[in-house]
Parts: sequence; structure tokens; C-alpha cells
Amino acid sequence: MRQPAEPVRVRVRLPASSHDRSYDAAIGAGVLESLGAHVREAVGLAARRTALIIDTGVRAHGHDPTGSLRASGFEVIVLPVTPTERDKSIDTLASLLRGMAQAMVERGDVVVAVGGGVTGDLGGLAAGLYRRGIAVVQCPTTLLAMVDAAVGGKTAVNLPVGPPGGEYLLKNAVGVFHQPRVVLIDPNVLSTLPPRHVGAGLAECIKHAMIGASVGPGHADLLGWTRANLAAARRDGHVMAELIRRNVALKAEVVARDEHEQADDETGGRALLNLGHTFGHVLEVLPGLSMPDGRPVMLLHGEAVGLGLRAAAVTAQALGMTGATGLAIVDELLEAAGLPSQVRGLPDTSALVAAMAHDKKARGGAIRVILPTGPGQARVVASPDPAALAAGFDGLRG
Ligand SMILES: NC(=O)c1ccc[n+]([C@@H]2O[C@H](COP(=O)([O-])OP(=O)(O)OC[C@H]3O[C@@H](n4cnc5c(N)ncnc54)[C@H](O)[C@@H]3O)[C@@H](O)[C@H]2O)c1
Repeated sequence: MRQPAEPVRVRVRLPASSHDRSYDAAIGAGVLESLGAHVREAVGLAARRTALIIDTGVRAHGHDPTGSLRASGFEVIVLPVTPTERDKSIDTLASLLRGMAQAMVERGDVVVAVGGGVTGDLGGLAAGLYRRGIAVVQCPTTLLAMVDAAVGGKTAVNLPVGPPGGEYLLKNAVGVFHQPRVVLIDPNVLSTLPPRHVGAGLAECIKHAMIGASVGPGHADLLGWTRANLAAARRDGHVMAELIRRNVALKAEVVARDEHEQADDETGGRALLNLGHTFGHVLEVLPGLSMPDGRPVMLLHGEAVGLGLRAAAVTAQALGMTGATGLAIVDELLEAAGLPSQVRGLPDTSALVAAMAHDKKARGGAIRVILPTGPGQARVVASPDPAALAAGFDGLRG
């Protein structure tokens, strides 16, 4: 068997508290096959058990690190997770915690989360709560989780709220910040990820490119690089690995500066990562949408974010913050990623704008939205003119 190359490492630097909490995101083809050795290196010899919280879909595709973990001396407690938003729940969390307790997982042991963002969020939260917090290793298997969800320590489950019959899911309502010991990224696993989910991850990469220059000079060329390489990432593993490295590096820098999303100035801190999301969250839950060619669609989170990026670009243009070039670049990138830039069946615009006020980033009911201000640049805009937001949504009608 060919020896996998040494993974490329991106450091996530965090302010030290009682100990150094900084960690690496290691990106390398074949990392999953040698997962046990990487986990052992991250947690040391004292850990005896791993609670392997693994996405059932990922396992069905043959990605199963149980053997590798055992070969590195771990007793493995396999806890499968069905990756749906309904299952990203307190009930699932409780059953994971029970599974860990029944298997006598101890404080020095480790949770290994293998799967997409649903599994990573559940695994991270279970690790953050069990015995007041044990180590977690994140092993993301979707592009979205690799470039976004697995890095940064946010964990959460959804909460059903509302009266009987009118229940809805309050997304990510219950969670903790719990940083992983290491993030292990194997781009090879993307070979089995459905193309639509690859597109959803690419939407987050477009978002990162649109904020790169605002995050720091080290990311100022991310937009240019992404424009030159995005289309190739789907077919070329080397380009995909470099895309992941660049996006993880950007996320790492944002998180290092504003770990708990507390920056309150208009430059945004971690909130910059919400570019496209305030529009996207409204679109993501809408029933009855269809693609411009008439195919009915329930949007994936990343697809809704992609549309949200276009809406943000149109809104910024309507407010005179950017020219037409910004919108043209977003359209070019959405097309290169194979993402929709328009949909059919959107409800009345005023209802869409009103729904934005429910976003959890709103303060006192006032809408705060991240808008582009130039190539690779964005900032927070509080209480934007509703007519400009309406123009943003109307720009999505196919
Ligand atoms: N914690 C954070 O900072 C953060 C950031 C962004 C998103 N999220 C959360 O992430 C979730 C979305 O994550 P997601 O897009 O990764 O979706 P997901 O976890 O729902 O996975 C999507 C689908 O892909 C399948 N899958 C995963 N990896 C695969 C592979 N390699 N091959 C084949 N199939 C595979 C899964 O079985 C599932 O059916 C949401 O719940 C969102 O709230 C969290």
C-alpha cells in the first residue's frame, strides 16, 4: 500500500487560558485510513477509549476508521448518528451521552466525530458536556464541514419550539463552544460525496473568498485564487486539497481573533462569516421552491447560502456600496461551483424581508446583515433600508 503523504497543517491559534488550546487542522489524502495514529498523537497514551460518533451515510460508503483506531490501542465504542436536522436533537444527544456512560468512557478518553456538520455538531456537543468536557477530534467528511463546521469549536443541536401542530426547529439553539484537539481532513472521502453536497461546500468557499481581504492581508488573494481555480476543484484532487487548506486558514484566522463571536464593531469579527446567511436562513426553510428549469427543490444549507451571497451583492449595489462588478463576480463563482443563482416560487418579498428579523444575529429585532463593500471585502450593516433588502430577494427570482 502506498504511504500517504505527510498532511499539510494549518494552526488554529487561540488565546491561552489555563493551558494552550491551540490546535492543528491536518489535511492529507489518506488521513482517515491512519486515523488511529493521528488521534493517538493528539490525545497521548493515557486515553484508552474512543467514542466513535459516526454518520451512518459515511459508514455505508465504507469509510470506517474502527480498525485503525483499534490498531492504535483504543477500545472503540461505535455510536452511529443519522445525519438529519431532525436528528440533530437533544434526544440524540442524550442517547449519545448514555452510550458513552454505559461504555464507561472516562474523562481522559476521547470522542472522535466522523461525518458531516450534523455529526460534528452532535459529537462536539456530546464531548463538551460529558463529564464537564472531554477531548474531541473532528474528522469532517463533507466539504462544508471541512472548510467551515469542523474548525472553530461551535457545537449545537436544534430545538423544536412552538405550539403543538405549529412546531418548528430553532436551529443550533442549544450548544457550547468546545474546541477540538485536532481536525483531521481527508479529501479522498469527498469521492463518495454527492455532487450537490460538494456544491453546498463550495458556496462557503465563495463566501470566504468574498471576505478574504477584510479578514487579513494573508487572505487578500483568496478571491483571485478562487476565481481561477473553483471550477477545477471538483475534478482535480490537488486543487481541492489546496482549496480546503486556504479556506481552513481563513476560518482559523477569524476564529483566532473572535473565538466567541463577541466583536461588536462594524468590521464584524467572526460575524463576517455570516455573509449570505441572513438571506440564506430565510430561503433554507421555504417549501414549494423550484429551480429555474422547473425541478422542485428543498434547498441545502450551502445552496441557500449561495443564493444569499447573490442577494447580499444585489442589496449592496442597491445601497450604493458596490458597483455592478461585485454582482458579476458572484454570478461567475456560483456558475463555476454549479450552484443556482435564482429560484422560482419565492413568496411575497415583504414576507421574506420580515422573516429576516427572526435571524439570531438580529439585535432587539433590528436586522444586522453582512454586505460586500468591494472585492474580498465586507462589513456589518445595521438596519439597512428594507427596499434594498427587497431588491436583494427580488434579484433571486428566476
Ligand atoms: N459548527 C459550525 O460552525 C457549523 C458551521 C456550518 C454548518 N454547521 C452545521 O452543519 C450541518 C450541515 O452539515 P453538512 O452540510 O456537512 O451536512 P450533513 O452533516 O447533513 O451531511 C450531508 C449528507 O452527506 C452525507 N455524507 C457525509 N459525508 C459523506 C461522504 N464523504 N460520502 C458520502 N456521503 C457523505 C451524509 O450522510 C448526509 O446524508 C448543519 O446542521 C449546520 O447547522 C455547523
